[in-house]
Amino acid sequence: MCGIVGYVGEKDAKSVLLSGLKKLEYRGYDSCGIGTIVDGKFLVNKNINRINSLEEEVASTPMSKIGVGHTRWATHGGATVDNAHPHVSNNKKVLVVHNGIIENYARLREMLKAKGYKFYSDTDTEVIPNLIDLYNKGDFMQAVKKAMDMLEGSFALGIINVDDPNTLVAAKRNSPLIVGIGDAESFIASDFSAILKYTDKISILENDEYAVLKNGGVYFYDSELNPCGKDFKFIDMKDEATEKNGYPHFMLKEINENTITIKNTVSEYIKDDEIVFDLKLTEEELKNINQIHIVACGTAMHAGLNGKNIIETLTRIPVNVEVASEFRYKNPILKENDLVIFISQSGETADTVACLELVKERGIKYMSIVNVKESTIDRMSENVIYTKAGPEIAVASTKAYVAQVCLIDLFAIYLAKILKTADKKHLKALTYDLKTMHASVQAVLEHPEKYADYAKSIANELDMFYLGRGLDYYVALEGSLKLKEISYIHSEACQFGELKHGPIALIEDGTNVIAICTSKILLGKVVSNIKEVKARGAKVLLITNQMQVPHEVYDEILEIPHIDELLSPILTVIPLQLIAYYATVEKGLDVDKPRNLAKSVTVE
Ligand code: F6R
Repeated sequence: MCGIVGYVGEKDAKSVLLSGLKKLEYRGYDSCGIGTIVDGKFLVNKNINRINSLEEEVASTPMSKIGVGHTRWATHGGATVDNAHPHVSNNKKVLVVHNGIIENYARLREMLKAKGYKFYSDTDTEVIPNLIDLYNKGDFMQAVKKAMDMLEGSFALGIINVDDPNTLVAAKRNSPLIVGIGDAESFIASDFSAILKYTDKISILENDEYAVLKNGGVYFYDSELNPCGKDFKFIDMKDEATEKNGYPHFMLKEINENTITIKNTVSEYIKDDEIVFDLKLTEEELKNINQIHIVACGTAMHAGLNGKNIIETLTRIPVNVEVASEFRYKNPILKENDLVIFISQSGETADTVACLELVKERGIKYMSIVNVKESTIDRMSENVIYTKAGPEIAVASTKAYVAQVCLIDLFAIYLAKILKTADKKHLKALTYDLKTMHASVQAVLEHPEKYADYAKSIANELDMFYLGRGLDYYVALEGSLKLKEISYIHSEACQFGELKHGPIALIEDGTNVIAICTSKILLGKVVSNIKEVKARGAKVLLITNQMQVPHEVYDEILEIPHIDELLSPILTVIPLQLIAYYATVEKGLDVDKPRNLAKSVTVE
């Protein structure tokens, strides 16, 4: 989604802004722009290509000590130069970059038009600089506040004003914005990565707060413009963590980081062979859980499906997995002894945040699984457990998914131990398997050429099927999503047993099928199912954990190390991540920044 960066200080603002925008590219965007103040006037450059192209365009523009930059992910109006940010008021006095959606913009636009304002874009954003201008009678902050009070929806704003060329104003509601402070310089950004190169000292703006950046300092105000003290804290993250470090793409780097991610995540929560979570949920409360709801989006929701399987198997507590965008509007049935688990890599996904608000309002117990510390979900939750995946930059989530599955596996074992619902020896073995899982992950990552070879063979296909049963089906869903989102090959995941009820009509000579089979009990059934698709001409790649599957059933096979079936998704997903990656490379597409997608989905 859109990204914001802003700077006030002694450096050339455009170089700081461009460096920040490059770091924000991963969020997904289709146009970009920067606005600075030179000789008392705004200098605005916008581009519908990549940041590199914007960089060339501004290479010889004059230096400025203040500016804001923006990557736009189109919502209102197409990806055009006119719609790109920054947007400037009609009288060229106020300049704004905006992340989020102004829900009442149409009404505000009509009101402003009636007062003579003209509009040059299709965006919701353009009302903001004009609204501020309308109310600006000399006290700029009062004008910003008046405008803020009229806006409905979600927004993070960076605002500059030609009449006060050393001051940058930031404001936000329901969209993330951080403020950074350095040596006689200050910054705003949508996330840390944009400014880590310059400072690790940051403060997080809360809803309806204002930050005024000037003279190397930052002044905070509450919603009524009363000064309010806010702390700055140091972020424990290095700028290098957001670099490719020799890999051709972030996605490949991150798939290879599955090993260290699991090691870090597991070692954080297993102490002396015991699983330990620092939760404010008492054992008594956990023992009384009636039902668990897992709420998340996309890949994180797929991790939740794996959670359903292992939690139900080990604890017999029913688990309901819901897509956050559905959960928030369905008036969900939540009872006193229910537990809701939110899963999110970014901790910023708007729908998941809205569900968390709903659950908190209803007073239901909840916990969150989050990767990004200090993100909105992290700060809103009193019970958080962290995936230790480090920064995930590629739009397609890989290591974060593996960490989410791993963490929810640990939670299921932890719960089963408290509830005494599973065999102690089995729980011990599962804990040991998770502790040593990184070695198996490393084994799967070896010889990547086998995944690349298969990926080449399917790169020009139009359709693929991913088939499995039980847990393998949940991994099939994730593999299918990975392929379609980056390679644009249409793919469908289906439970083997459901094929006959419709989808088998699509299997014909040459249809590519990836079949996943890790369940001993279901092996016979799966073999029969694979025979059914083979009989209709399908080309089958089998991913299995070294079970004796008759050779005639598959065309190719990828074997993963043998581990407890309940944990198998951690391994079976890796070949699927690599196949999606290599197919996309083969097609010459932008692996890390697929079209139309954003890393952090901060609007509904
Ligand atoms: C797909 C992908 C998305 C995210 C989803 C939720 O590869 O990354 O489906 O999983 O947008 O994002 P988070 O986990 O940040 O809430």
